[in-house]
Amino acid sequence: MVKLKMLTIGIETSCDETSFSIVRDAKELISYKVASSADVCAKYGGVVPEIVSRRHLQVLYPLLVETFDEAGISPQHLDLIAVTNRPGLVPSLLVGLASAKAMAIGLNKPLIGVDHIIAHLYAPFLNNVDVPRLPFVGLIVSGGHTELFLVSDWHPRAIKRIGRTRDDAAGEALDKAAKLLGLGYPGGPVIEKMAQKGEAKYRFPCYKGDDFDFSFSGLKTALLYFLKYNNISGDSVSSGQLSDICASFQYAIMDVLVDKAIKAGLKYSVKDIVVGGGVSANRFLRQLFNIRSENRFRICFPEMRFSVDNAAMIAGLGTQWFLRGVLDDLNLQVSSKSYW
Ligand code: KG4
Ligand code: ZN
Repeated sequence: MVKLKMLTIGIETSCDETSFSIVRDAKELISYKVASSADVCAKYGGVVPEIVSRRHLQVLYPLLVETFDEAGISPQHLDLIAVTNRPGLVPSLLVGLASAKAMAIGLNKPLIGVDHIIAHLYAPFLNNVDVPRLPFVGLIVSGGHTELFLVSDWHPRAIKRIGRTRDDAAGEALDKAAKLLGLGYPGGPVIEKMAQKGEAKYRFPCYKGDDFDFSFSGLKTALLYFLKYNNISGDSVSSGQLSDICASFQYAIMDVLVDKAIKAGLKYSVKDIVVGGGVSANRFLRQLFNIRSENRFRICFPEMRFSVDNAAMIAGLGTQWFLRGVLDDLNLQVSSKSYW
């Protein structure tokens, strides 16, 4: 019989993924389940909060049963319930929080609310022997956030935001560009795929100031005018030209992300740079980081399945916070905004 140590269940419903995971001692995956509503969102060209929250409700219970079946443990074995309570879509967050509170009451177990943005930085610590070293610079690149952090320890007070986007997030820019180009949703993966066949021959200007902030909204306007002045529409563009446009647009975003993260790494003299969030699944971003870091830093990415929203990172970070004395109670609320 395996000796059970600290067992935490993570619950994540901040956007269009419903996910549960049971993690042992903040790092070892015992079970992991995820159900995505991306198929429904694709029909509407984006996330519709009411639709995805109803989908969470439909899949939640069967997914929870599967999670315990895979783990081979009963709910009574749990030591902690960790749930994403911010940031995200309020109707979606409420579904996860209500189920977490029900479990906390029914099982009489402690409850902790986790900020899912910071949890993205925890993803490379899961199931990994070669974990990032603290302190590190963390880059979050997702559909709603593009931020740089200095993480000195896992206590919330030791996590400092050093930069953020002033307008659109990197993933948002990719999603909007894909929409303009008639490529569907989500934009990141489809632009990545098209870009693989193209060449970054067009220059789309992107904010490159000396600070650690980002700005991507001008990029979308630049693309709009580029299409207009070159008389390019969904019907007239050749697949070769579309691939070149995608490669150029992707390059403009990834170039500035890598550049600023490396500058932050140098300024704060860290050994490791951690990259998390949906856009961290992008292979071009991963290559560019590895080339530009020139072995000055170790660049730590999550496993591909932990790049997107998932409950394993929530369980892991929730455990770390709990071990440092952070705890919530049944008054825990949801918020569309991050603490940071
Ligand atoms: O972290 P995430 O799953 O959800 C949010 O919290 O936003 O990130 C979703 C974002 C979307 O904008 C999507 O287009 C982008 O991540 N994304 C990618 C890739 N996979 C997902 N962007 C670039 N390349 C990818 N392979
Ligand atoms: Zn996310």
